[in-house]
Amino acid sequence: MGFDLQKKDFDKDFVWGVSSAAYQVEGAHDIHDKGPSIWDSFVESKKNVFNGHDGKIACDFFYRYEEDILLMKQMNIDNFRFSLSWTRILPQGYGKISQEGVDYYNKVIDFCLECDITPWITLYHWDLPQALEEKGGWTNRDIIGWFEEYVKLCAKRFGDRVKHWMILNEPMVFTGAGYFLGVHAPGKKGLKNFIPAVHHASLCQALGGRTIRSLIPDAMVGTTFSCSQITPYSKKSKDLLAAKKADALLNRLFIEPVLGLGYPMDELRILRRLDEYHRPDDEKNLLFDFDFIGIQNYTREVVRHSYTTPYLKAKIVKATKRNVRTTLMDWEVHPPSIYEMISKFNQYTAIKKLIITENGAAFKDVVSNKEVHDPLRKSYLQSYLDQVYKAKKDGLKVDGYFVWTFTDNFEWAEGYFPRFGLVYVDFETQQRIVKSSGKWYSRFLNNGVSL
Ligand code: BGC
Repeated sequence: MGFDLQKKDFDKDFVWGVSSAAYQVEGAHDIHDKGPSIWDSFVESKKNVFNGHDGKIACDFFYRYEEDILLMKQMNIDNFRFSLSWTRILPQGYGKISQEGVDYYNKVIDFCLECDITPWITLYHWDLPQALEEKGGWTNRDIIGWFEEYVKLCAKRFGDRVKHWMILNEPMVFTGAGYFLGVHAPGKKGLKNFIPAVHHASLCQALGGRTIRSLIPDAMVGTTFSCSQITPYSKKSKDLLAAKKADALLNRLFIEPVLGLGYPMDELRILRRLDEYHRPDDEKNLLFDFDFIGIQNYTREVVRHSYTTPYLKAKIVKATKRNVRTTLMDWEVHPPSIYEMISKFNQYTAIKKLIITENGAAFKDVVSNKEVHDPLRKSYLQSYLDQVYKAKKDGLKVDGYFVWTFTDNFEWAEGYFPRFGLVYVDFETQQRIVKSSGKWYSRFLNNGVSL
């Protein structure tokens, strides 16, 4: 069946956009008095990232923001989600402010508005100030005060013009990959780091929401979560149990405390260790009624019981071993996953609005005659969007959709190898080429009419 949806098939106020993140696109890593973030440090060790890649230049968005935002405008994209680099604004994480950093974001915001593009700001997309990491980073409870100072500053400097805010990007990924597995910055491992990082990130997510709301009363404030459909490997009770645990860890850990449901400790006993970090008012301080929740879905995971996996006794059965279609990230292409996640988050009736703040795919791109034909990415996006539409038709709450991502960029530990963009970037020349998926998205946003 072909894809024949257009933007007009969705509600008029359904939000369409693209997402990005500071460290993945900006470059200019040490310009002016910008301080280093944990990603600036992490990439210094060549073994941490594919082929020793780093984000020192990335897409050079710091210098090319006008070009890129103009291109968005030409492509009919009217919502741009991007993150602020904490150390561009507060080089040491707190204290001295970098006026150049503040000026830079003012220029980006003003240029978006000039182009009629609504800026959606993520306050934290994984680039913690290195100076704070040296004091323990997310494992140190003092992060609550550091984060509050940063959020207040951003609200005061940008809140007159920016009305759409997201507090954290995927806390499960930055605590899991950064503080448990050690495969992302800051490269810490083990439960002793993960457990306090989880609790402090949860407290900051709610505190950030309260701070934005109190300083920008007309703001729409949200936060974002990674989520994947979890399918048990078999109907055996051990596999069903393993799937429940993985669901608690990957999908429920950060949303439930904010809604007053507490951490999912019943399914995941290791979370009882969180009690050690609880202080008297924390229960209440974990709560916040966000205006919207952002969910980010790419794939599903098949999970089975495993004696050898410590704590969890569950493991993911890799997509590459399941004979299914995959992306360059070795993630299964499974469009119903996004429907399942919309449906799952709809069960939390306290959620007011649900926005897909990321969805997209990495495939191998080839430039030929200055064009990039990427039918796989286009059909991935279309098949996932079909599911979003189906969810909407079935009466589920879903209020927006952002593609990850606008331009190819620095894909964390995978470096520049996987390309997720609607727009191809030649990282040697910084030339941009709108891929056929980008042309399709822009036609879709223009109800079928080409540029
Ligand atoms: C993150 C992005 C990342 C994308 C693809 C999400 O987990 O928010 O920063 O590039 O997925 O891996």
